[in-house]
Amino acid sequence: MSFKEFFDYHLKTKHSYFSIRNYPNRLSWDNQPIVFKTYDMYEKYELNIDNSMHGFLYYIAGLNAKKSYPGVEYYLRMNPSAGALYPNEIYFQSRNNENIKDGVYHLDIVSMSMTLLSSIKDEGLEKDIGLDTKVDGFIFFISSLYYRSSWKYKNRAFRYCLLDGGHILGSLEASCYLYDKNYEIIYDFDKKSLNNKFNFKNEEFFQSCVIVGTKTDAEVISFDLNINNVDGTYFFEPNEIIEKAYNDSLQIINAKRQEEKPYFYYDKEAFKDIIFKRRSIRGFSKQAIKKEEFFKILDILNEKITSDCDEEIDIYCVINRVKSMPLGLFKGLEYIKKGDFQNQAGYLCLEQDLGKDSAVTFFITSKGKNYQALYQKAGIIGHRLYLAANYLGYGCSGIGAYYDDEVCTFLEDNTMVLYALAIGN
Ligand SMILES: Cc1cc2nc3c(=O)[nH]c(=O)nc-3n(C[C@H](O)[C@H](O)[C@H](O)COP(=O)(O)O)c2cc1C
Repeated sequence: MSFKEFFDYHLKTKHSYFSIRNYPNRLSWDNQPIVFKTYDMYEKYELNIDNSMHGFLYYIAGLNAKKSYPGVEYYLRMNPSAGALYPNEIYFQSRNNENIKDGVYHLDIVSMSMTLLSSIKDEGLEKDIGLDTKVDGFIFFISSLYYRSSWKYKNRAFRYCLLDGGHILGSLEASCYLYDKNYEIIYDFDKKSLNNKFNFKNEEFFQSCVIVGTKTDAEVISFDLNINNVDGTYFFEPNEIIEKAYNDSLQIINAKRQEEKPYFYYDKEAFKDIIFKRRSIRGFSKQAIKKEEFFKILDILNEKITSDCDEEIDIYCVINRVKSMPLGLFKGLEYIKKGDFQNQAGYLCLEQDLGKDSAVTFFITSKGKNYQALYQKAGIIGHRLYLAANYLGYGCSGIGAYYDDEVCTFLEDNTMVLYALAIGN
């Protein structure tokens, strides 16, 4: 496959040794966007973590740490985010869930509450995602306020909106596991029409939706939401390249459904604690991990992801420190080449030590056509990697910055490099 066949936006937003040195990202601190969106004028219901429906919502994207530096305080969340910029927002419809009034809500992260945007009865958003009948349970909608990320990462930010959104989907998957629920991700719906319905202008757009519930036979009535537009960033600079990339990747082509469900075998109480404490590791002490654990992690990454558009993804692993395993590069379980590539892996990750000092550095790639779906899938796999590594007592960090073409040369594969991650001790 030649590079020309890949999504144009991806080709235009590659990092290289040259681009990093000649076009450094300069931050305009006067135009820094805020990271929390709040619908002040609507009724709010604070989440009570002891209630299982509320707990399910809390574990998707709740706050779990506060950092204080002189003059600055900021919050961290269950889900990681490139540069801690959190471009995504979560909306949901709730129908027949205990302790939650039927309605369309925004998940207000800063106050950890649900904001009721509209009550529903026989009406609902099901038709907006292609269903004629009511769904009992939840329908989630993930959006991006892209300027939160493009403020720092400029044109490359659309990649991070999708990856971070994928992490939220992964977080939702983990919360479904905790609360014994099944999910189905929907990528193929009329996102533009839903953007209008939520009164988004060009600053915010939907990128995926998730059904966590049961499709019933009861007919549903389509309705207008009539909600106010709320400023979720305070500053906004339009970015034509990102808006074009979004529009150009809306149409789903030759989607392959994945009906199978994933299976995980975590102890639920221990896993809950891991989700709550998840952090990105900031440096490794260069100790090895066990081979059985590495294979266990690979199994988890390869579990199915239930969705209406399952794109093929390849997982490359640079083995730096895994006991009883030779050093080298794997593609899944297949050995590609032997050798000590730790320095090269660090260099490829924009000279970040995380890529060099890890036990394993991963590169997630795809040659697929449905860019929004495949990129969010990479984020889901990244989230599984964080939780699986943390569960086994190891650290993990996402790495969104790498020299795209040089990674391809190293992997000996003309492909789209979507994400790098490192795990270790
Ligand atoms: C898509 C993505 C890309 C990231 N890229 C990097 C990176 O290149 N280097 C790095 O040190 N951390 C990276 N991180 C980690 C973030 O900095 C981290 O998630 C954020 O600061 C929040 O901290 P937490 O994960 O501990 O909650 C990345 C995270 C994500 C989700």
